[in-house]
Amino acid sequence: MPSEIERRNLKRVPTADELISKAAYSELASIGVVVNKIVETVRNPHSSATQLKEMIEIDPPLSAKVLRRANSAFYGIKRNITSIREAIVFLGFNTVREIALNLKVLKFFEDNKAYYSYSRKNMWVHSLAVALFCKFLYRREFRDPGDYIYSAGLLHDIGIIAEEQFTGEYFQVMLKKLNEEQAQYPTIVLAEKAVFGFTHADIGRRLTSVWNIPDDLTKAIGSHHEPFTCDPAHYRHAASIFIADYTCRKRGFGLPEPVAPDEEASLKKCLESLKLIPESIDVIFEDVKSEIESLETRGELYS
Ligand SMILES: [Fe+2]
Ligand SMILES: [Fe+2]
Repeated sequence: MPSEIERRNLKRVPTADELISKAAYSELASIGVVVNKIVETVRNPHSSATQLKEMIEIDPPLSAKVLRRANSAFYGIKRNITSIREAIVFLGFNTVREIALNLKVLKFFEDNKAYYSYSRKNMWVHSLAVALFCKFLYRREFRDPGDYIYSAGLLHDIGIIAEEQFTGEYFQVMLKKLNEEQAQYPTIVLAEKAVFGFTHADIGRRLTSVWNIPDDLTKAIGSHHEPFTCDPAHYRHAASIFIADYTCRKRGFGLPEPVAPDEEASLKKCLESLKLIPESIDVIFEDVKSEIESLETRGELYS
């Protein structure tokens, strides 16, 4: 029986260019389409109600999800909301945008494949936790609704999904290093550099650029493990994702990746530069935890 590498015709590790050319035009590209539509509704608030409504109405699973949420017992008294327009008014733009984005992105995390303790399911909960963390951080600390940062948080590790899909068995080789040679490869970035010669942050940045997603998101995705390399205009986004990613991984919502000692120092630097205190991080993380628990209780975490 041919191995996965033979089947996928991978006799060597693909270069970053090869990976991008496969992933960017694969099914994953539908993420780019939906993110761009969502960004457009944030940019043009005047037309956003109609745009959002139209985008949902032509998508039956999305319509069903929005209506189900609007009629959910979670919101108190029983309602009978039957139109998308009513659902948008009731739930609010931001909630409906998040439902749309989550549903489109979740599709790529639905697989039971697991290598070591990596699984797409873990990755989904991690991505959602990071997106929620970023949104709560922006709202609480920067008085900003956090529309863009939620999308960036949800997509920050999309490069890992692309690696898993398009590097064949080399993805498992990389995870093996991360799991069995932790002294030498304490972070996923180091294991990726050793096996692939690129990182999921590079791949995420390049993929989202090919999809014409705005720089605000692509640059933050590209620098989420090295926020200090990001240009000043996008530093706050990158540093916020770093803080969210670090906190969620360290507190149980993440890749089974150890937290490396130098990340602790970077966290401190990020918090200082954004004038954040550790207590705020604790409060925000508790909000993330209760939101995820609530989604799970309502049966909406994976659907
Ligand atoms: Fe990452
Ligand atoms: Fe992450």
